Amino acid sequence: MAYDVVVIGTGPGGYVCAIKAAQLGLKTAVVEKLPTHGGTCVNVGCIPSKALLHASEMFMEAQHSFQALGIEVGTPKLNLKQMLAHKAQTVEQNTKGLDFLMKKNKIDVLRGTGSVVAAGKVAVTAADGKVQQVDTKNIVIATGSDVAGIPGVKVEFDEKVILSSTGALDLEKVPGHMIVVGGGVIGLELGSVWARLGAKVTVVEYLDTILGGMDGEIAKQFQRMLGKQGFDFKLGAKVTAVTKGKKGASVTFEPVKGGAAETIEADAVLVATGRRPYTDGLGLKEAGVEVDERGRVKTDGHLRTNVPGIYAIGDVIAGPMLAHKAEEEGVAVAEIIAGQAGHVNYDVIPGVVYTSPEIASVGKTEEQLKAEGIAYNAGKFPFSANGRARASLHTDGFVKVLADKKTDRVLGVHIMGFGAGEMIHEAAVLMEFGGSSEDLARTCHAHPTMSEAVKEAALATFAKPIHM
Ligand code: FAD
Ligand code: NAI
Repeated sequence: MAYDVVVIGTGPGGYVCAIKAAQLGLKTAVVEKLPTHGGTCVNVGCIPSKALLHASEMFMEAQHSFQALGIEVGTPKLNLKQMLAHKAQTVEQNTKGLDFLMKKNKIDVLRGTGSVVAAGKVAVTAADGKVQQVDTKNIVIATGSDVAGIPGVKVEFDEKVILSSTGALDLEKVPGHMIVVGGGVIGLELGSVWARLGAKVTVVEYLDTILGGMDGEIAKQFQRMLGKQGFDFKLGAKVTAVTKGKKGASVTFEPVKGGAAETIEADAVLVATGRRPYTDGLGLKEAGVEVDERGRVKTDGHLRTNVPGIYAIGDVIAGPMLAHKAEEEGVAVAEIIAGQAGHVNYDVIPGVVYTSPEIASVGKTEEQLKAEGIAYNAGKFPFSANGRARASLHTDGFVKVLADKKTDRVLGVHIMGFGAGEMIHEAAVLMEFGGSSEDLARTCHAHPTMSEAVKEAALATFAKPIHM
């Protein structure tokens, strides 16, 4: 039977694409090699990490905030087994939900490893080795990404002592000392989980800042806050060896600017130095599909590869490796295949780091605007001056709004604070409509809310905030 669309991989890019394609009346199948849908995000990424981040944050709040709020519960005790069970249950609810959505949308699920034979032909190799070939008018590659490791350094992940993000989601015991190689998003989120549960966490990072590419002022302040939460930082340090010992493991690093190498030991090492596009066994070379110098499938502005009828989306192509970016591309490609004008606005893709406090941003940073020579006004407002933040003991952080000096159009919004990941979306909507900081500042915000700090920061770009 010939399909209109066969999607290879059912992560957030692939499953969303398949659902949208089916909704648009296209005969759709998905190929997935894992027993569950949802890809990295649902199985070993966004969802399980957020379950642990939430639970560990509650544990921290119970220890540090309850007393001040007048709640006496004694010393909170960790039940790690139950915390991991909560995580597993959350993942299961999501994967079951996806099975339901596949059925509801009448999407055929082909179990096995997919490969592109040629335009119009996909081979599916099942676990027992049986190969099935399916014909399809369009192929969407949505095979995502995998742990990159450290280029030039042999890292043998055993997922007990030397961990990738997957192992760090499943430790049976809280390590006494955890070294995190890479002060990026995964390192700081999963490092936070284990720090909150009692581990001493040392982050070894190549750059001289954590969260490279984020707003510099936020990164600096956030590092101080993490320091208060018990993190140690070795910045400007290039890791050259990760070695398993009799008990734990050791990490050797040398200062990027030169100097003597240092080796530190820990009970566990999380290596979080980025992810690589996953195209293993896809047969791209044989099918003539081009990849770039970093192994990402090359696409044009319409998510088309160089081979007509073959598209690619998500982590396997260029752009931020984010679930919602993959989803947007999934929708766009389904629309394009259906003859509609699918489009992704890459200028307005929010990014959230789910730490404590959260960090959320959309659009350009001050560093980017300066580098691009764009004149801007910056407005800032701290949560310490926000009534709701005081009432809930969440006064850390601030909002920064960046608006074009001439036109007042909002170019970027950066928030560090409790619930930043929810607050960022009013900025994203505003920017999607090309709104100005005055539009934001003159929009009535409910009181008392943390979001009032967004309004005040917007006001501060062209006038004075009221409450400061
Ligand atoms: P994936 O989710 O990687 O899915 C690809 C799918 O394709 C997989 O199911 C795989 O089994 C399947 N596949 C691969 N090859 C084949 C083949 N040949 N045949 C059949 N099937 C195949 N992003 C966020 O936006 N927010 C977060 O909070 C967040 N947290 C994260 C936390 C962690 C610990 C990690 C590791 C990642 C996190 N991410 C987060 C990133 C997010 O998971 C990815 O950006 C997202 O999953 C990419 O979606 P995708 O559909 O492109 O690929
Ligand atoms: P990352 O790119 O965010 O961070 C990796 C860090 O490792 C960088 O700061 C880099 O400088 C450092 N590094 C690289 N080599 C090193 C070396 N030899 N020694 C010391 N440091 C070194 O990658 P990360 O954290 O692994 O995340 C991968 C992807 O997953 C990201 O692209 C991110 O978008 C996505 N993700 C998103 C989340 C979210 O949206 N909340 C959560 C988790 C992951």
